[in-house]
Amino acid sequence: MQTTVVVQALEEIDVDALVVVAFDKDSAGGGLGDGAAKRVDATIGWLSELYASGEFKGKSLETALLHRPPTFKARRLVAIGAGKPEKLTAAEVRKIAGAALRFLKPKGLHTIALALDEAFAGPASLAAAVEGAILGDYEPDQYKTDKSDAGRIDSFALLVPAVDAAIEAAARHAAIVAESQNYTRALATEPANAMTPTILADRARAMAAEFGLECEVLDRARMEQLGMGALLGVAQGSNEPPCLIVVRYRPEDDAGAGTHLALVGKAVTFDSGGISIKPSDKMDLMKFDMSGGAAVLGAMRAIAQLKPALTVTGLVPAVENMPGGRAQRPGDIVKTLSGKTVEVLNTDAEGRMILADAMTYARNLGCTHIVDAATLTGAIVVALGDIYTGLFPSEDAFALRVAAAAEAAGEKMWRMPVDDEFKEALKSTYADLPNVGNRKGGAITAAMFLKEFTSDAPWVHLDIAGTAWLDEAKPYLAKGPSGVPVRTLVRLATSWNG
Ligand code: BES
Ligand code: MN
Ligand code: ZN
Repeated sequence: MQTTVVVQALEEIDVDALVVVAFDKDSAGGGLGDGAAKRVDATIGWLSELYASGEFKGKSLETALLHRPPTFKARRLVAIGAGKPEKLTAAEVRKIAGAALRFLKPKGLHTIALALDEAFAGPASLAAAVEGAILGDYEPDQYKTDKSDAGRIDSFALLVPAVDAAIEAAARHAAIVAESQNYTRALATEPANAMTPTILADRARAMAAEFGLECEVLDRARMEQLGMGALLGVAQGSNEPPCLIVVRYRPEDDAGAGTHLALVGKAVTFDSGGISIKPSDKMDLMKFDMSGGAAVLGAMRAIAQLKPALTVTGLVPAVENMPGGRAQRPGDIVKTLSGKTVEVLNTDAEGRMILADAMTYARNLGCTHIVDAATLTGAIVVALGDIYTGLFPSEDAFALRVAAAAEAAGEKMWRMPVDDEFKEALKSTYADLPNVGNRKGGAITAAMFLKEFTSDAPWVHLDIAGTAWLDEAKPYLAKGPSGVPVRTLVRLATSWNG
């Protein structure tokens, strides 16, 4: 799908469907606002009749469709509800664009234009609309032989009052970010038989070559040599060899003032739980346990194109967690790359084991700041549902930076406590620490475990176990992988110097 930004009279635009945004009918001007909806109504009176009929109230993401509108070249006119105008945020515009596309796509239409009124045609709204359309267009259908039900949109035009350099740049930036988020979603959609650590490494190499990043993949032998006992312990129950994927972005002009950002993503290509095996109900979802790693690769894909002035290294520890004959057992003690020993009390707490070694390695490479993204705990799903990502920071300044990036990117995150009192739960009789605490505050004790492996660098842990996957479709997004937190990671890197 092609997204374009155009300046054209409403009547003249030649598309299968022209979409105008209509507000809540109880708002000023009776919902018609001051832009495209009002102009359409002045020409053919359709919208005021719609409101009067009570069939359409202008509530958020409500839709109405008119065939063969007189005087318009467009074959259909669509009104999409936007609620109250004063509540029209960039996040709402993202949803509107996605919902409009997903409303029209299964109808066999191929060309769409969305009119963005003066009130919300600035770069931020426009970027959100481009993102919404591209994200809305994604279907997790790479294995469907018949894709005809979903439909196919060829072009999505954004009609704006005027185009300038800022608008053009915002549209390009947004398209890169959203396409990278869809790249992440496509990786996460892959079933575990088609997404082993080796295959993920191949995909990372191909992506790096395409976008001019360096890529190095550490294999088992290399990791043994280095002493990554925690990561290797998780991998030993599977026939699939593990790896650590390292993707590097180096800016031409480093204004990052010595900052070297590490993005670390958990990539358990299938989490059976290992010997502490999971119940079979919904175990199929555990193919998604590489979503953090997929998000890091997606973010690096965008960063390579947007070229921020700061060094960024993506690290993706990739393993399969299986209960094979060589699997690690509860009670086993492993030595991490950091030198600390860990007693594996539960083989299903594997994410923190692989992240521990990857974060130590990031510090050894000279990374100064770390953000990790991981589908780490069921406990965060209980706490924050599938709406908010848990944000666990080691310090305020970096917490605020990441939270600001999330806010600007339109990804919901909630700050969680990282407090040494929770370390009481991480006591092992035989090793330096156990890999699990008790049942209390499970998402927090997982974060406390990770913090032991940051060597005191500013660090933020993002627990995306609830937000990486949509169990149900939204009007503006297909069900399946969400691609969270690609936009936040990219925004963090691109906004580093202000
Ligand atoms: N990948 C899971 C986390 C998860 C669980 C994500 C359910 C989505 C839904 C992780 O590896 C895991 O198994 N965590 C355990 C930790 C426990 C053993 C301390 C959990 O949350 O149950
Ligand atoms: Mn697990
Ligand atoms: Zn897991």
